[in-house]
Parts: sequence; structure tokens; C-alpha cells
Amino acid sequence: MKSTSLLAIVASLAQTLDGLSIPSIQQRGDGLKVVGLEIQKRAATNPIHRDNKLKKRGSVEVELDNEETLYFINGTVGTPPRPVRLHLDTGSSDLWVNTPASSLCSESTQPCRYAGTYNANSSSTYEYIGSYFNISYVDGTGASGDYVSDTVSFAGTKINRLQFGIGYSSSNSQGILGIGYPLNEVQVGRAGLRPYNNLPLQMVEEGLIQSNAYSLWLNDLDANTGNILFGGVDTEKYHPPLLSLPVESEAGVYAEFLITLTKFQLGNNQIGGDLALAVLLDTGSSLTYLPDTMVQEIYNAVGAQYDSDANAAYVPCSLARDRTLLNFTFSSPTISVEMNELVLDLITSSGRRPTFSNGVAACLFGIAPAGTGTNVLGDTFLRSAYVVYDLENNLISLAPTKFNSTATRILEIGTGENSVPGATRVQNPVKATAGLHGPNGASGISGSSGSSTIRGMGSMSALIMAVMAGVLVL
Ligand SMILES: *[C@@H]1O[C@H](CO)[C@@H](O)[C@H](O)[C@H]1NC(C)=O
Ligand SMILES: *[C@@H]1O[C@H](CO)[C@@H](O)[C@H](O)[C@H]1NC(C)=O
Ligand SMILES: *[C@@H]1O[C@H](CO)[C@@H](O)[C@H](O)[C@H]1NC(C)=O
Ligand SMILES: *[C@@H]1O[C@H](CO)[C@@H](O)[C@H](O)[C@H]1NC(C)=O
Ligand SMILES: *[C@@H]1O[C@H](CO)[C@@H](O)[C@H](O)[C@H]1NC(C)=O
Repeated sequence: MKSTSLLAIVASLAQTLDGLSIPSIQQRGDGLKVVGLEIQKRAATNPIHRDNKLKKRGSVEVELDNEETLYFINGTVGTPPRPVRLHLDTGSSDLWVNTPASSLCSESTQPCRYAGTYNANSSSTYEYIGSYFNISYVDGTGASGDYVSDTVSFAGTKINRLQFGIGYSSSNSQGILGIGYPLNEVQVGRAGLRPYNNLPLQMVEEGLIQSNAYSLWLNDLDANTGNILFGGVDTEKYHPPLLSLPVESEAGVYAEFLITLTKFQLGNNQIGGDLALAVLLDTGSSLTYLPDTMVQEIYNAVGAQYDSDANAAYVPCSLARDRTLLNFTFSSPTISVEMNELVLDLITSSGRRPTFSNGVAACLFGIAPAGTGTNVLGDTFLRSAYVVYDLENNLISLAPTKFNSTATRILEIGTGENSVPGATRVQNPVKATAGLHGPNGASGISGSSGSSTIRGMGSMSALIMAVMAGVLVL
């Protein structure tokens, strides 16, 4: 769908981002076995470096910025600890970091400086595992090198022996923290080996949390931080009830956070009819991707201008004041997303906003067509939901988020079948009949595996492509 050259542009743009700032805090009161971390959106106004590859191509002469995508977590790796900033991704299952000696990180612009790097040889706790780490993402970026084990910490919580990858060769200036199912690890999908304990499982192994489960609260588009609670639920961050749905298995195994969308309404319009559509919950994706026919109806209803080169659509920024609800129903729970959560700013580093040819300010719309790919509920959806990922029981619990809540009441997720406190199972949930990859496409199991779903850079590539295609004016 996307051309190789576009992917190269996106990859190189990804390397030029800087000015990230990600505080993280720990919430471990009352002796609970819960690890809470603050996650932060990229919230910088620093100009980004001009992209070298773009300059060479001579196609676009702008510096781009997008303040509203990607969620990060601060951590440290090794002994002595080296700080790293990691992109949080429920759509993949491996943690990896860059090494300072890679050809990417040793470029003169020091693209890896902001997110940090790890040098195995200078860590006294480093242990080599194997040279078969190799991951790639749908945005075309990737990394390969060694799997190793070392000490990793987040906000003072130390995991003594965590397996992760080192990107000796990398096209992404930031490491990624994949927290999905172990079966989706590239060690399984690409190297054909048994799964290892990735971060949440190793936290269980080392007694930090009771069960392989965590809750994510991304908060509002206009807020900069949210949080992730490993082993816990914060009952002050959602509007009850918290309802649990089964994860859809693929070819009999659980490898991805797929749940079933049964109804979609935009205001009073039902779009797409009765659905039984598998959709992936993916924090690594900035946008939401739905079947093309549904997206066409949505675009018609909101007056979005689609740009096929970019596979994205633009809307007048005034839609950011629109409070129409887009209701996503999953058998029983409904998550309402206000239109304004779907209107993303596109700002150049000189502070300008692209416009349509009639001078009206243009914003990126938060829903795009999935084409032949997976249907994905990305950050434009996930901000409106409180989501508990229970990998132990293969359940996803959902409730409408409580935006900007400052209150907190953390309960521990225990063990056993009904371990998520306050969650109720949906009776007779609908099983997906569409949107599943089928036996040969199950991620992490077969040939198509090892490819994850980081799409955070999509919006920037979209802007570049729109400018190139003459849809937008800068
Ligand atoms: C997160 O890391 C960045 C970069 O190292 C740093 O500026 C920021 O203060 C860190 N935040 C916290 C809370 O440690
Ligand atoms: C560590 O140093 C040794 C000796 O200088 C070198 O051969 C090896 O490649 C280095 N390993 C890593 C992981 O950097
Ligand atoms: C990583 O896997 C991809 C896809 O299978 C392959 O093209 C590439 O050569 C591999 N990289 C390394 C360093 O093995
Ligand atoms: C949440 O807080 C942000 C930043 O203070 C504010 O802009 C936004 O309107 C608030 N959202 C809601 C839903 O109250
Ligand atoms: C959408 O969901 C909200 C609850 O979140 C509900 O009040 C509203 O009636 C729903 N809209 C439609 C058209 O059903």
C-alpha cells in the first residue's frame, strides 16, 4: 500500500524527532503488588532537525512536527543504569533499545541522543542470549541484533533479568516497549523459538505483580500524560461498569489484542450495519483503521478530504469544536469518542498550520481506511477508553474513560479467573466473523509474523504526502 520511498521518508523523519520529555512516577502504596508508571505524549515545541533524506530528494522543504502522537515511558537499562525512553506498544511484544555504535546512532546529528542508548559492554549485569533479534513494524522501521538479558528499571521498580533486543542495526531512533502476548515475540515468529518472559510476565516471575495483566489510561488529546498500571486497576479513572470481553484467538492461539466490534454509530447514523468485526487494540498506532467502506461513509458524514497517496484524510480544524459522538459497541460496552478527539493538529516547526487551497486550516482526521490490513483501534480511540489487558485469562475489560481524573484508587489484580477487581463478564459476547487473519496470517505464529503495528509516524508521512500531492498548502 505504501511505497518504499515513503517508508524511507517516514523512517528518517522518525529519527529527527527530539525534545521529548517523559516524567514517570511510581504508585506503590499500601504494600500492593502494583507497578504504576506515568506515560507521556510527546509534548515538545522544539523545532525538529531538517531531515537530510528529504533535503537530498529535494521534494519537500518543510520541517514537520506533530505533537499529538506517540506515548513514551522512561526507564533505565544496565548497571550502571542508562536512561532510555521507550515507545509503549500493545501491538508488539518485544522491548528493544538502540546501541550507540549503530550506523544510525553514530550519525553526526546524534538522532538517538534524546531517547538514549545502551552499550552492553559497559554494563556489569549484561548477559548475551543470541544474535537472532530482528523486528520490523508496519511503518517500515525496524531493528535487528542481539537478544540479551540485563537489569531494567522503571520509576524505581527493578526487574533483575529481563530479556530484550539490542538494535545493532536500526532504523528507529527510539527503542520500543512491546507489552503484548509472548507468542507475538519475534523470537517465536522469526527465529521459531519458544516464547520468553517479556516485561509484564517477568514482573510476575520476579514477584512485582501477581498476574500478567495491566491497565492503560491514556487520557484526553489535550492532556500530556496518562498512566499504565502493571498488576492493578485504578477505579477512579473510568465510569463504571467495567465490562470484560474475550480476546479473539487466531488459529486457536492468543497472540494479539483482538476484540469484536458489533456496532458503530456516528451521531444517529449507524455505519457498517450489524458487525462482528475483529479489531486490534494498539497503542503503537496513532490513528484508527477501519474497513474502507465504513471509512468512506464516515468521511462523507464529516466532510473529510481523503488523500489516497497518504492514506489519510484532512478535515477543517474547526471540527475540533464538534462534540458529535462516535459510538463503538462491543457486544455490550459502548465507548463514545467525541469528534474533537479525532481532530489532530499538524504544525510545522515554524509554527504554521497547513491549509486547504481555500485557506481553511487543515487538521488530520483520526480514522483511516485499513485496506487489506488489520482493523486497528489506535490512540484516537484508546484515549476515550479505560482498558484492562488480562493476558492470563485472555480478557479485555473496557469502560468509558474519566478524562483528567486526579483522584486515584488502585486495586490489585490478583490471580485466578476473575482477578480484575470490579470487572463483570459480558454474557454471550459476539464472536468475530470478519477481520481475522485466518490460520496463515496469525501474527507471531506463521510467515507473516515478526511484523508489528507501530504506526505512530503515519500522520507525519501523511502530511508530507499531502503537501507533495498538492492537497494541502503550507
Ligand atoms: C524522562 O527522561 C527525560 C530525558 O532523559 C528527562 O528529561 C525527564 O526528566 C525524565 N523524566 C523523569 C520523570 O524522570
Ligand atoms: C564487547 O567488546 C568486545 C571486545 O572489544 C567486542 O568484541 C564485542 O563485540 C563487544 N560486544 C558488544 C555487545 O558490544
Ligand atoms: C530480518 O528479517 C527480514 C525479514 O525476514 C530480513 O529481510 C532481514 O534480512 C533480517 N535482518 C537480519 C539482520 O537478519
Ligand atoms: C483535560 O485537561 C486538558 C489540559 O488541561 C484540557 O485542555 C482538556 O479540555 C481537559 N479535558 C476534559 C475532557 O475536561
Ligand atoms: C452513544 O453513547 C452514549 C453513551 O456513551 C449515549 O448516551 C448515546 O445515546 C449514544 N448514541 C446513540 C445514537 O445511540
